Amino acid sequence: MAEHIAVLDFGSQYTQVIARRIRELKVLSRIYPYNTKAADLKQAGVKGIILSGGPSSVLSKGSPRPDRKIFQMGLPVLGICYGEQLMAHLLGGKVAKSTHREFGHGTLTIKKKGKLFTGLPKKLRVWNSHGDRLEVLPPGFEAIASTENSPYATIQDAKRNFFGMQFHPEVAHSEMGMEVLGNFILKICKCDHNWSMANYIEHSIKQIRETIGDKRVILGLSGGVDSSVAAALIHRAIGKQLTCVFVDNGLLRLNEREQVEKLYGDHFDLDLRVARKSKLFLDRLAGVSDPERKRKIIGNTFVEVFDEAVTKLKKRGNYAFLAQGTLYPDVIESVSIEGNPAALIKSHHNVGGLPKRMKLKLLEPLRELFKDEVRELGTELGLPKEVVWRQPFPGPGLGVRIMGPIRKSNLDVLRKADAILHEEMMASDLYYQVWQSFCVFLPVKTVGVMGDERTYENVVALRIVESVDAMTADWSRVPYDVLRTISNRIINEVSGCNRVVLDISSKPPGTIEWE
Ligand code: XMP
Repeated sequence: MAEHIAVLDFGSQYTQVIARRIRELKVLSRIYPYNTKAADLKQAGVKGIILSGGPSSVLSKGSPRPDRKIFQMGLPVLGICYGEQLMAHLLGGKVAKSTHREFGHGTLTIKKKGKLFTGLPKKLRVWNSHGDRLEVLPPGFEAIASTENSPYATIQDAKRNFFGMQFHPEVAHSEMGMEVLGNFILKICKCDHNWSMANYIEHSIKQIRETIGDKRVILGLSGGVDSSVAAALIHRAIGKQLTCVFVDNGLLRLNEREQVEKLYGDHFDLDLRVARKSKLFLDRLAGVSDPERKRKIIGNTFVEVFDEAVTKLKKRGNYAFLAQGTLYPDVIESVSIEGNPAALIKSHHNVGGLPKRMKLKLLEPLRELFKDEVRELGTELGLPKEVVWRQPFPGPGLGVRIMGPIRKSNLDVLRKADAILHEEMMASDLYYQVWQSFCVFLPVKTVGVMGDERTYENVVALRIVESVDAMTADWSRVPYDVLRTISNRIINEVSGCNRVVLDISSKPPGTIEWE
């Protein structure tokens, strides 16, 4: 591997955030298990070492320790939080149990800038999260910054280029944390800017090819950002050894299946199998109003259909892997006392339990990346903006946007209304500015008048929200003129709807979806 920074993982939830910050500095890094041998790091071309934080206490028996020889390699070392305490403890200092945890914001007062704090102001707001405290510095070390609760918030041995900090420079709440990391990585380790998305793609492709060999891969393509980018990347690596399965559950938006077929089948020349199962889904949903039952039926039927598609494929080819577009935020890192940090997968995906049952291995090429990086990757791979910046769409699709029982006629009304909303959001340049914009079908009939005729039709609600993470949301202040055009067009162009209403509820207490 080319020159890089080694991040030794002691199980912090921020380890991947450190790696991500290093990518932002355009420098190559790699996360290693905490006990990787110094000789292996040397051979791999490491230029500096970061010891991550972690949930353990250096005072506990069996807490994770690095190979002590990493301190004899002549390489700069930066210990963060648990990493700092470890370094101090292993190099002859003393760590003690603190009477209280230092958690949250603190003010860092810099006493000596040295190489680490070059170009930074004297005081910084930083984010702390640690229990133990350093009491005696190891030989050769000095304190260069303090916080309200700790005289040893940052320590250094300038001769050996060893640094330790109790705060987390990698998190967004730490002011100028990027500059601190930048000083360590660029000035102290003297790393070159050798990371780029193009290189990352090249590296991933190589890895995917090595992992897959001559086997085949199945991927459940939903058309969403994550599965689309995973498909494009794996396809670039292994071409026709990848087969994507797209399930038409009858709850898709207007022309959605056709668009997927056109983009992936025709444009990307991907081996795409479309399971046309709308009748099966809609039959099973007939007469069901309860949102949770709808979700269950849709989820279970999806698993069944996907399972069937996989079984069929496995009979015909050497399929050994199931690919998923799992991102880093979907992965929970945890550390076990004796073993290496283990990664657990949140089973929020419909296919969460499938790989085991299907005797397939998992391939997750995006699991180190954050959403914005996945978007950058997708763009670099040539996916269009409409895919890369697509708004979220729930797995159960329009099934949870039709209140009451799902009927084909209601779906038709919702699809047409939703397509008009989409067109107008695009035309007014608002589509990419909001978090989500969609229509909800209300099975409520109201009276209207069209021309000389009295009408008695359904209501469509507009749900347009702004959010950063879907945990909270506010309704979008869409200009009246745009709302007027949307409403006029829906009422005039969609038969079966004579009234459009606007949802002005925030989340909480409302949710984004209506079901
Ligand atoms: P709520 O309605 O809970 O939605 O405020 C938060 C975000 O999650 C999406 N959502 C779902 N996504 N399966 C999904 O894949 C679901 O069952 C589901 N329900 C809600 C919703 O669109 C919003 O972005």
